[in-house]
This record gives sequence, structure tokens and C-alpha cells, in this order.
Amino acid sequence: MVEDLQFTNLESSPNPLRRGLPREKAVMPCVFVVFGGTGDLAHRKLLPALYHLYRGGLLPRKFAILSYASGDLTDDQYRESIQESIQNFAPSMSAEGNKWEGFAQLLHHCRRTSDVAESMQRLKKRLAEIDSSVRAEGNYLFYLAVPPSAFAATAKGLHDVGLAQDPEGRAWRRLIIEKPFGTDLQSARNLNRELQSIFREEQIYRIDHYWGKETVQNILVFRFANEFVEPLLNSTYVDHIQITVAENIGVEQRGKFYDVTGALRDMVQNHLLQVTALVCMEPPPSLDPEAVRDEKTKLLRSIRRIQPEDVTEVTVRGQYAPGVFLGERVKGYREEDDVAPDSDVETYVALKLNIDNRRWHGVPIYLRTGKRLAKRVSEVAVRLRNVPQMLFDDAQASEIQPNVISLQIQPDEGISVRFQAKVPGLTLNIRPVRMDFKYGAAFAPSAPEAYERLLLDAMLGDTSLYARDGFVEAAWELVDPIIEGWQLTKMPAHSYLPGSWGPKEADDMMARDGRRWRRL
Ligand code: BG6
Repeated sequence: MVEDLQFTNLESSPNPLRRGLPREKAVMPCVFVVFGGTGDLAHRKLLPALYHLYRGGLLPRKFAILSYASGDLTDDQYRESIQESIQNFAPSMSAEGNKWEGFAQLLHHCRRTSDVAESMQRLKKRLAEIDSSVRAEGNYLFYLAVPPSAFAATAKGLHDVGLAQDPEGRAWRRLIIEKPFGTDLQSARNLNRELQSIFREEQIYRIDHYWGKETVQNILVFRFANEFVEPLLNSTYVDHIQITVAENIGVEQRGKFYDVTGALRDMVQNHLLQVTALVCMEPPPSLDPEAVRDEKTKLLRSIRRIQPEDVTEVTVRGQYAPGVFLGERVKGYREEDDVAPDSDVETYVALKLNIDNRRWHGVPIYLRTGKRLAKRVSEVAVRLRNVPQMLFDDAQASEIQPNVISLQIQPDEGISVRFQAKVPGLTLNIRPVRMDFKYGAAFAPSAPEAYERLLLDAMLGDTSLYARDGFVEAAWELVDPIIEGWQLTKMPAHSYLPGSWGPKEADDMMARDGRRWRRL
């Protein structure tokens, strides 16, 4: 193997992610095996993230990456294809010079043919050769960047050739899978059962890239490292919470997947419920991964299930129509490739949730997410109650708006607080103003990509930011009755214009509660 690989150097690492961490937190020697190594996810996200970790000195010296996919490529051809993708998808990193040469030498490719058993044997052999050449000590991380329908069969294939077993005390084997984890509770349970018949739960890493976002992680810090926040977060002070994940893109090339999935399964079951759990969970006793995961799951289990007959009151479905967006004509959902021309799949969903615990009793949590909305923006807004006694008369207080603490997850990452201030002058006039914290302005280094953090954690064996079986199942327990209700009531997906904020019915849902969505 090449000699110029870097030593993991955490203390002086240029990567803020692990700077200052003790050396025992370094990644152990390992081979990172990417099933679907020639696919879109590997090219756009995984390999650029690994390259960035490599450039930051965060990968071990004894390390290699092995792609396993159907493409008939030599190692050199695979390296060239990855170099091209990094140039396209991560242009801020130079894929040339010494660093690139060093990284390229880590990359290998093994072809999968239609004879799966024979291909797995070849993979095993290739892995053994690479392992002995880099001295990876038998530690393997298997990333399944393949369709979910192939998860169980791939895990079984690994088991059949003896690669899944974790030689106790000698080496580790880990499996990373990407959402969707099932399409309903039953299929999620089946998947969990199938994977757990081969891997122990602690070997299984279920990735939700929202957890890797800096600002999502910062919710924990904002809540538990500041004394002024936590006392406010309860039904005494909070009127309601709004969580928005808006996208301005359509379904792009994913029509086939999306048309059997929809926004509820694609976004709410995972990302929005993950964020809800972080914002609303009780403080964990420690940052131990299991302690954090226990609290998140407990919170999900406290969310009241929406009864199928209530869906028309507390949920809204929408679908984008054709229209003009940013001066260009854009297709409606039904005109997208691989989408049925009469599809009723929702590209927008809004929900009202209630949490049945002491802290949040009577505080509704409104979630909304959709594609082709006015802009790409994700935020959590905690709207406090009105002041109990208004000292100021109507004229002075006409502009008073309740306090809002908003956490902007993307794109303008930051935190802002809306409060009232006196307008300077001889009379007493009050106006709402905002106190803003912007990540970009406060911290010079740019935040690491979500995948970098998550892949590094998996190599370190840190499961905190990965979903546990119970969390995934609890999320489906909330989502399944909604889908059942939609089918039962034949609830339509209301049409909305591209560039709007979703169907008017979502505003009506808020209006019934005397509230309205924030203008973002
Ligand atoms: C994915 C969904 O999980 O998240 C996509 O499948 C969605 O439909 C994407 O576009 C949004 O992620 P981000 O990081 O752009 O907010």
C-alpha cells in the first residue's frame, strides 16, 4: 500500500469535527465496503465525504475502501470515476495533487455479477487481500447503498460467506443502511427481524442524514448547555411549535420511488419526527448513545396517535400542480417522469401532533413539509404564549407579537429570538425586533457535511446519531394510522402551485386553531 497515507491526528486536526478529541477516539484500522459503490449515493455523498475526512487527517493509516457493484471496472477506472464525481459534486475540494493521489490508492472495486453467491465469494477474497495489504485487522464496515429491497438479501449474503460475524474481541463488523426502513410498521419489523437474525442490533447503523446536520445537533446544545432555554420549553410558556422542512425542488429523477412513497413516508416518518424528538425529548442522563436514543424513543411513544377518523381535521395532503417557478415553467407532479398521470400521491403534508406527557400537555406541534414550495428552508419555531397581563394600551401595543425562538436548520443556519422593543422616541411605541445568531458569521470554518460526521461516527462505533430499531418502529406506529385514515376517508391531495406555501387547506387547519403558519 502507499506510504504517504496520513496518520490520524485528532489533536491538531484541521477538521473541527474531532479537534481536541483524545487519541483513543481515533478510528481503528478498517475497510469501508460500499455496496452500490458505482451508484449515485456513493458518487455524490459517500466518497466525497470520505475524501474530505481523509484530507482532514481523520481516517486511519491502515484503511481502504472497496466498492462492490455490477459495473465492470478496474481499480484505476473506479478511481477516475470517483475523481470526476468529486470534481462535479464537491468542487471546493481539489481532486488532484498529493492528497488526491493518496486517497485514490485507497480505492478498489469488485464486480458483482448475476451469480450472487459466486460474487460474494469473490468479494470475500478481495477483502481478505486488501485487509492483509493494509493490515485492517479484520474490521469491516459494510455500507448498503442499494435499494431497500436488497438489504435483507445482502445481509444474508454477507452471513453466508462468513463476513457478518463479529469475531468477538478481535475485530468488528458493522452494517450501515439508508432509509426507508420499511414502508409501514410490519415491513419495518420484518426488516429489523431479518437483519437482527444476522447482525446484533449494536452492529446495525440506520442512517438519517438529518442527524448529521450541524444545526440539528445544535438543538441538543442549545437546549441543554444554556440555562435560559429549558425552563421555557413546556406548556406554561409555549403556545405551540412549528417544524417546517420546505424544498423548492420537485421529485427530480426519483418519480418511481416517490410515487409509491409520498411525503409522509419520505420525510415525516424519519426527518421530521427525528427533529421533533430532539426538540421535545426530556434531557438524557448522559450523552451515552443509548441514553440519548432512549429519550428520543420515549418522546415518540408519548405522541398521541392520530386516529384514522380524525385525519381530515389534523392532517393535510397536497400535490404540486404545473406552474411557473422563478420565471420558468415547471412540470406538475403528475407530469414528472415515472409518475402515474392520475397519481394521488402527496408531495406536501401538514400535521398537528399532540404529546401526551406532563411537559407538553396541550401544546400542539405542527409539522409541514413539501416539494416545489416557495423556497428551501428548514426551521423549528417555538412560539411562546402571550404575556399574561398587558400593561401597554392598545395603541402602544398594537404591533406586539408573541415571542418566537426559531432554530434555522438550513440554509441560513442560525438561531433567532423575536421580542418586543420600544421604538426610540418621546412616545411609548412598541415594535417586534429580532436577535439573530448566524453560524456563518460566528464561526469561521464551514460545517462538515452531514455524511462526514455520520460516517466518521460509524467508524468510531458511536451510534448516537443513528436510529435504533425501537425508534423506527415507534415512528411507523404514528404514521400507519394516518395512512389508514387517508385511505379510509379517501382524503385527496389538494393541488398547490409551485412556489407557493402549499395548499390553502393547510392554512385552514391552522386557522381552525386560531393560528397561522410562519412566513419564511
Ligand atoms: C431525503 C428525501 O431523505 O431528504 C428527499 O428522500 C429529500 O426527498 C431530502 O429531498 C432532503 O434532504 P436535505 O438535506 O436536502 O434537506
